[in-house]
Amino acid sequence: MSQTPSAGTQLTVAEKVFDFVDERVGLRLLTAKMLNEAVPGGSRWAYVFGSILLFIFIMQAVTGVLLMLYYVPTADHAYASTQYILHDVDYGWFLLSYHFWGSTAMVVCVFAHMSQVFLWGAYKKPRELIWLVGLLLFALVMGFGFTGYLLPWDQRAYWATTVGVEIMDKTPLIGDFLARLLKGGATPGQMTLSRFFVIHVMVLPAALIGLAGLHLFLFRCAGPGGPFRGTPQELKAKTDYFFPRQIWKDVVGMAVVFASICAMAFWEPVVLLEEATPDPGDYHPEPEWYFLFLFQHLRLKMFSGEFGQFLGAIAFPSLLGALLIALPFIDRSPERNIFKRPIALTLWVLFMVSILIFTVSAIINREFLD
Ligand code: HEM
Repeated sequence: MSQTPSAGTQLTVAEKVFDFVDERVGLRLLTAKMLNEAVPGGSRWAYVFGSILLFIFIMQAVTGVLLMLYYVPTADHAYASTQYILHDVDYGWFLLSYHFWGSTAMVVCVFAHMSQVFLWGAYKKPRELIWLVGLLLFALVMGFGFTGYLLPWDQRAYWATTVGVEIMDKTPLIGDFLARLLKGGATPGQMTLSRFFVIHVMVLPAALIGLAGLHLFLFRCAGPGGPFRGTPQELKAKTDYFFPRQIWKDVVGMAVVFASICAMAFWEPVVLLEEATPDPGDYHPEPEWYFLFLFQHLRLKMFSGEFGQFLGAIAFPSLLGALLIALPFIDRSPERNIFKRPIALTLWVLFMVSILIFTVSAIINREFLD
């Protein structure tokens, strides 16, 4: 940590500003508290995903604000303004494509972070509240993907939203209310676009900032879980501090993710379909790839018919959500070593394999339909 220079030393402007703020808000103490957090068992690459998620969110906010300088959220102009960003604004294609691939990266990293926390048993006592707030953050990340998809107002956007809202409509008691609240009319139109836009650029970011703050506060209260193997003495002996080793790993992780998003934006830029119309023509509606596994499993025979669709679209996902909420309270054993938790390991492998199979089969199905 930087020390107050001894009398007679010339201070740079930056040091003077730092001292000025420090005298008023205790900046030195605050930075020391943030950076000197102990990481039991030492820094690890496995712990980088939480910080990467914060980084991606900040970049999504920056690129989102820049996009808003040109985007017009009306049914008449949304498509044309998105085309304008893609074809007329300098590097607009890169900005929009970065934002698009940034959302994909956020979904991938939230799955990676959740998997790490699950496999390391970091949801167990005393970290139950961090896990619960994390689940809300997960819902917000998915909400960003769902609401952002409509904004370009092309056929893909329009029909993915139509299918998504129809699925939501099947929820007992609140489904009809939710669908009407989101759509604002019988078919997606201006009201839907306005509502999705406000949720995407105001409601979800505000909620994410608040919940991420709470997540980190709870994390600092409970402290990091550390590795799942090793005696307390071994972990203590290997303890690192957040600065510099863990921060270094986090920054490398952020740089890799940033470079990957830029590369994807460059090689696979966003291309719009035709402007949205209430007639799908020969377009086969399909959600964003990270919702594909949900979409594909609804095509299974067992989920056909009104009741089957309810089971597949609402009952099963809700049951899974309820299980995830209850997880830290059902699994009360203090054992965190994943190799000694065969049920947890098997469930995680089965879940990942089924997501992979359903996603790949949806993609194959799409090629076949096209
Ligand atoms: C936008 C989404 C999220 C952000 C920005 C975020 C951020 C973070 C950060 C920065 C940490 C501190 C250390 C680390 O990186 O491991 C952390 C820890 C943690 N997060 Fe998240 N997180 C998010 C989503 C989630 C989700 C979806 C879950 C699980 C449902 C979750 C559960 C946890 C738990 C249990 C810890 C404590 C880990 C430990 O002590 O080893 N987080 N999160």
